[in-house]
Amino acid sequence: MNRPENCILVIFGATGDLTKRKLIPAIFALEIQNLLPEKFAILCTSRPDLNDEEFKKLMCESLDKYSEHADPEKVESFINKISYQPVDAKNPDDYPSLLKKLQSLRKELSINGNTIFYLSTPPSLYGVIPQNLAKINCNKQDDGWKRVIIEKPFGYDLESALELNKSLNKNWKEHQLYRIDHYLGKESVQNLLVTRFSNGIFEPLWNRNYVHHVEITSAESIGIEKRGGYYERSGALRDMIQNHLLQIVGFIAMEPPSSMDSNSIRNETVKVFQSIRPIKEDEVINQVIRGQYLASTIRGEKVRGYREEEGVDPNSKTETFAALKFYIDNWRWGGVPFYIRTGKHLPTKVTEAVIHFKPTPHYLFAKKDICESCNQLIIRIQPDEGILLKFGMKLPGAGFQVENVNMDFHYSDLCNQRIPTAYERLIHDSMLGDSTLYARGDAVMAAWKFLEPVMKAWQNNPDIPVYGYPAGTWGPETADNLIEDPTMEWHYPCKNLSDDGKFCEL
Ligand code: BG6
Repeated sequence: MNRPENCILVIFGATGDLTKRKLIPAIFALEIQNLLPEKFAILCTSRPDLNDEEFKKLMCESLDKYSEHADPEKVESFINKISYQPVDAKNPDDYPSLLKKLQSLRKELSINGNTIFYLSTPPSLYGVIPQNLAKINCNKQDDGWKRVIIEKPFGYDLESALELNKSLNKNWKEHQLYRIDHYLGKESVQNLLVTRFSNGIFEPLWNRNYVHHVEITSAESIGIEKRGGYYERSGALRDMIQNHLLQIVGFIAMEPPSSMDSNSIRNETVKVFQSIRPIKEDEVINQVIRGQYLASTIRGEKVRGYREEEGVDPNSKTETFAALKFYIDNWRWGGVPFYIRTGKHLPTKVTEAVIHFKPTPHYLFAKKDICESCNQLIIRIQPDEGILLKFGMKLPGAGFQVENVNMDFHYSDLCNQRIPTAYERLIHDSMLGDSTLYARGDAVMAAWKFLEPVMKAWQNNPDIPVYGYPAGTWGPETADNLIEDPTMEWHYPCKNLSDDGKFCEL
């Protein structure tokens, strides 16, 4: 892989959780793999009044806790690349001192102005920081490129996303904006493109003639943990579907791009979002199911219900589970239902996409009730990344008894190499100036536009129920009714959860 040009990475919100848990360990992993620029520095900023040494100590502790690599010598040389500058990101008066520090780092390293600004802050600052940076000319590219990485959520709804985009576009060009969706950085999500477009066997079947329906699940076994404040305003639809799940839909449903460059790929995903049939407000009740986890006992441990969580309104209607059905109105997918669901406190952590193929046109062998005999291609995004194809085989012996068998590929069998984390890949790409795996503005807006009527209906119509589901189950049973075909049901990756709660066979 290429080594990026020399640059400085400035992190806003550097004392937050994301920096500790994900960003610093990911940048350290890049260092271990020799993927950082030859001359490189990380300038961390946040409000607490810490000096370099105090901040470095915090980062050492984070690496100790969250990094897979622990070689003390490497940690030390990496930590020396970090410095800290207290900045109140809202206050324009704090920026000249930031600029001064940035300039002195550039001088020390003798590098030009190449800079990435990573906004790992509360979303309310996503407009403010780039504006304040522009005031000190940090958007100008005369002395080197300038890029801004913006964490999700990009906006709270269509209106606020458009507003944020407008405010960013005042001072920054689209090619300088990197809207992060860490699902796009996952190896297995990228592998969707390779599976589809490097194999002759799947693509001819990848359409309405052969596919019965498509299902995407992203389940989490954890609850909202300590994120009540954030989650109350977000909910599953904004937190997972608007971004991560729809991006997976984009890769599954897109047409082959003309080439693998950023614009060609992003042009195709945006077309998918623009072709999704809008769900009307009055259709929401039937096409979208929302749920909220209730107190329960999981493997002997008591779990609080969502409304009892810290920072959550005891009468909250925020959904911790959402499932929806929609159609993509284009030539490839006309009439094929797509089902997506996500939830907190489900039985296991798993993200997968299942392509359910149509049954054979005629049953030569005994027909099963549930469409077990239909072929399924299961793309396991996490954990245990891989691909599984289910198809029928004759059971040995008299007659023709058919049993579905699995052809199973695990990424771990491909090579012993560790799979890089999504943040490693995305940060490295941003240094290379490759935005393929970042969401483009039009795609983000199209995703919000699609979900707008759902959010409105939930807000305006008190009759739309929020179904309770005991924590540790697969969400409200009503979600099963979304799949109208009585011979079909959701694919439950782990119906029989083992006692130790581990992920079990598909
Ligand atoms: C984040 C959401 O974007 O993705 C979290 O805000 C969620 O609520 C997380 O837990 C899931 O990511 P992953 O990579 O663990 O599936």
